[in-house]
Amino acid sequence: MVVVAILAAGRGTRMKSVMPKVLHTLGGKSLLERVIDSVKPLSPSRQMVIVGYQAQSVQTAMESIPGLEFVEQTEQLGTGHAIQQLLPHLQDYQGDLLILNGDVPLLSSQTLSNLLQTHQEKQNAATILTAQLSDPQGYGRVFCNSENVVQEIVEDKDCTAAQKQNCRINAGVYCFRWQDLAEILPSLQTNNAQKEYYLTDAVTQVTPVMAVDVENCQEILGINNRMQLAGAYEILQNRIKEKWMMAGVTIVDPTSTTIDDTVELQSDIIIEPQTHLRGNTLIKSGCRIGPGSLIENSYIGENVTVQYSIVTDSSVISTSRIGPYAHLRGHVEVGQGCRIGNFVELKNTQLGDRTNVAHLSYLGDTTAGTQVNVGAGTITANYDGVKKHKTIIGDRTKTGSNSVLVAPITVGDDVYIAAGSTVTEDVPDDSLVIARARQVVKPEWRVKKEGRSEGIGE
Ligand code: UD1
Ligand code: CA
Repeated sequence: MVVVAILAAGRGTRMKSVMPKVLHTLGGKSLLERVIDSVKPLSPSRQMVIVGYQAQSVQTAMESIPGLEFVEQTEQLGTGHAIQQLLPHLQDYQGDLLILNGDVPLLSSQTLSNLLQTHQEKQNAATILTAQLSDPQGYGRVFCNSENVVQEIVEDKDCTAAQKQNCRINAGVYCFRWQDLAEILPSLQTNNAQKEYYLTDAVTQVTPVMAVDVENCQEILGINNRMQLAGAYEILQNRIKEKWMMAGVTIVDPTSTTIDDTVELQSDIIIEPQTHLRGNTLIKSGCRIGPGSLIENSYIGENVTVQYSIVTDSSVISTSRIGPYAHLRGHVEVGQGCRIGNFVELKNTQLGDRTNVAHLSYLGDTTAGTQVNVGAGTITANYDGVKKHKTIIGDRTKTGSNSVLVAPITVGDDVYIAAGSTVTEDVPDDSLVIARARQVVKPEWRVKKEGRSEGIGE
């Protein structure tokens, strides 16, 4: 049994931001969400998040995650002080406490469960995660004897020049036998450079205490500034892209491609350069996505191509071609074998199978049937300045170039709309609609006009 505590009360001054550091996003999820995700497989009996700076906004941002308890640290007097806030909440708790910094977002669950296992097998009072870094700057340095027994942890700001040479750092991940920690927590002192209560001081006051090196140093990167945030993003991206390439996805140019870790891909997909896949997206086999595309929270069925286009909160069934330069702006469903072409914007629109919207159109709040051909420049006028209205287009209907459908409107099956029409009334099946002024031609008009102006007429 383990209780987890996550330290998330600090402002994160070095981020130079009004937003709490732990809410900054890394690949579509906040730092704090990532830390919470990493402990999930351990099935903790309780998850306590210590909040302080903008406590309410941190709490609100985590609303959708079940089972979190928030403990407030009203003044941020250090990591040790943060853990002191747990004392009234864990009075009778006899098990272990796993403590994580809210700003260490790349930890794998495996690393955490290994640490917990070692801690329990060795019956330690405290076990801490450490790493050997070539550039340890900014981290607390961990000094151990040859048995990995921690002798001292010295914060970067408190280090002497000689101590700074030590490359073994504190990752900010600790297992404590809670009752042992609870006993010494009240006696922490602030005699250090930052005048803070350091949790690291508690580590050496319990025995036995042990340090365990992480296998992959990249996991323990702490985010204190935006450079480190970008560094973490790069590590995360490399992990994700490696995984998909090994699973049979071609990524033509990994350096110009980004993929959130929430995205699911099937094998035999080709991702062309400058493509970004985000959020809750699923792409099926045989698709060619990109170059130059952004797909967010969308479903893309088999054998679809998407070129230089943006697809958000939408689904494309299969074998359809999207782009170049199309924008599926949200709540769009494209059927099978459709073509959505150049400079087409779709919003809250459903298209049946084999329907084409190939050039220069806007369809909003529209339902079109199967095998519809939406001619170049067709526009649905869905907004009257106050409300949005629906357009319904039946199967096999063809709209002429530059036609405007003024919603609310229903156009039946097998209808032909003449080019340049502004259609304002419903149209029954099988009709031809011409809704524009009849062409007027005045023969010899120029000759007559010029004759008059030069005075040669009558
Ligand atoms: C801390 C460790 C350091 C370690 C590093 C790893 C201490 C004293 N130092 O340093 O040894 O190498 O993490 O990344 O613990 N927080 C609170 N309340 C506070 C202060 C901080 O909740 O009063 C939270 C912050 O929001 C943050 C975490 O604790 O999520 C760490 O705080 P931070 O100030 O970033 O500590 P570091 O200087 O990085
Ligand atoms: Ca930190």
